[in-house]
Amino acid sequence: MGLLDVVNTPTTLPDKYKKMTIEEMEQRVREIKEHFGERLYLPCHHYQKDEVVQFADATGDSLKLAQLSAQNKKADYIVFCGVHFMAETADILTSPDQKVILPDMRAGCTMADMADMDQTDRAWKVMQETFGDTILPLTYVNSTAAIKAFCGRNGGATVTSSNAKEMLKWAFTEKERILFLPDQHLGRNTAYDLGIPLEQMAIWDPIKEKFEYDGDLQQVRIILWKGHCSVHEKFTVENINELRENDPEVNIIVHPECTFDVVQLSDLAGSTSFIIKTIEQAPAGSKWAVGTEMNLVNRLTDTHKDKEVFSLNPNMCPCLTMNRIDLPHLLWALETIEQGETINQISVDQDIAIDATKALERMLERA
Ligand code: 13P
Ligand code: SF4
Repeated sequence: MGLLDVVNTPTTLPDKYKKMTIEEMEQRVREIKEHFGERLYLPCHHYQKDEVVQFADATGDSLKLAQLSAQNKKADYIVFCGVHFMAETADILTSPDQKVILPDMRAGCTMADMADMDQTDRAWKVMQETFGDTILPLTYVNSTAAIKAFCGRNGGATVTSSNAKEMLKWAFTEKERILFLPDQHLGRNTAYDLGIPLEQMAIWDPIKEKFEYDGDLQQVRIILWKGHCSVHEKFTVENINELRENDPEVNIIVHPECTFDVVQLSDLAGSTSFIIKTIEQAPAGSKWAVGTEMNLVNRLTDTHKDKEVFSLNPNMCPCLTMNRIDLPHLLWALETIEQGETINQISVDQDIAIDATKALERMLERA
């Protein structure tokens, strides 16, 4: 589902939920969870709001949530608290009789919407003409099921921010060149980490339908799809310079969806799980400026009162689409299950699911 479909999907949260108190809603969620027991599973991404995370059966980064979905055989209903592509992945990896529900269909991901299948088919044709059979597609899991299926069909795989390096290493054992979709920053940061110089990286602009590259294209080893995360792009070199000038002792840790310059100037970069683990293990009294989504940064600040944890960008806001999932939508999803109805079910087309599974399994075997 693209952004337009998400925007056009009517989200009719019944008025009743706007009139209930927080306590009433929380009580109802607890009752329904207790009633269904293991038949109901609630995985929650680390970027979700606290009002939702408090009810999570598991929290995790996108890799962990994919692994947990693949393992879960008991739940009839998986109420996925995250964004659309994560719920699609859960649907692909669970059995056909397990229903995956996204409490608010507007919870998309703007990065995932930056690569659609028509654009990708056209780009692939140009790349086949330019490079012949020397190129393998890899996609960040932050992509539609159709893009995952495209990678699966063409021998490629998915990656997450926690295994991108391993997956890219593997991909280079398969082919000489990699097309990396849809996040240019994760692709560039990871490839550079593996020793590939910037001069061997080209950008593919899916709007202008051309390469951005000065030089002989045959030297290129990685083609970066020109997509990005609008949340992580808000962390800047100016934020880092200002902070270092005011407080040279502060440690800077960022997600690899941040730009190359930001990652290079930071002390550490890694997935949401890596960020959480690093701060957990840091000594009391240490100071951490964090370049990732605000709900997670606020939670880290509250959980680690013995350390100073704050956002690298003081004017940061949360990921708006992740934030669509709130307590009223969660309760609405749960009450409809209780009433024997299903709203907002995520159901990936069977043909797409078969090929997307190949791409996901190539990752899960190695992750
Ligand atoms: P993780 O893979 O670290 O969970 O990141 C997912 C995401 O959407 C980051 O913006
Ligand atoms: Fe997508 Fe960025 Fe939000 Fe992650 S933080 S879900 S990549 S828009």
